[in-house]
Amino acid sequence: MLRFILLEVIWNNLISNVIKFTDEGGKLEISLNKVDNYAIVSVKDNGCGISEEVGKHIFEKFYQGDTSHSREGNGLGLALVKKVIDILGGEIFVESELEKGSKFIDKLKLGENE
Ligand SMILES: Nc1ncnc2c1ncn2[C@@H]1O[C@H](COP(=O)(O)OP(=O)(O)OP(=O)(O)O)[C@@H](O)[C@H]1O
Ligand SMILES: [Mg+2]
Repeated sequence: MLRFILLEVIWNNLISNVIKFTDEGGKLEISLNKVDNYAIVSVKDNGCGISEEVGKHIFEKFYQGDTSHSREGNGLGLALVKKVIDILGGEIFVESELEKGSKFIDKLKLGENE
């Protein structure tokens, strides 16, 4: 049960960010693959993208790279996602290009029978 709640925190934040940082009519792609004992989940958008400098800080508490959206939220979402992934035993990576989009890749250790 706790695991489901924690996983929901991850998807909820990543998908909310896509909605927030991608213009209307944009695209969201989610993929799930199993590699060894890990689930690899990627959440990809074609939104505003993240610069290299901003990308260095996005997992820090209260950091918001895009000031035009700073009134929406507190910059806590990705810090929480990172904490949850640490608890579950995994890793998160981001690939992004300004004006092109972002891809968040989660590597999560699978439980028994998963
Ligand atoms: N999919 C995305 N596309 C572009 N920029 C993103 C994306 N996801 C996160 N970011 C950048 O990373 C910053 C931190 O994200 P985070 O989710 O922690 O904060 P937030 O969305 O601004 O606020 P909160 O999550 O508290 O509502 C964002 O302010 C934004 O600059
Ligand atoms: Mg957010």
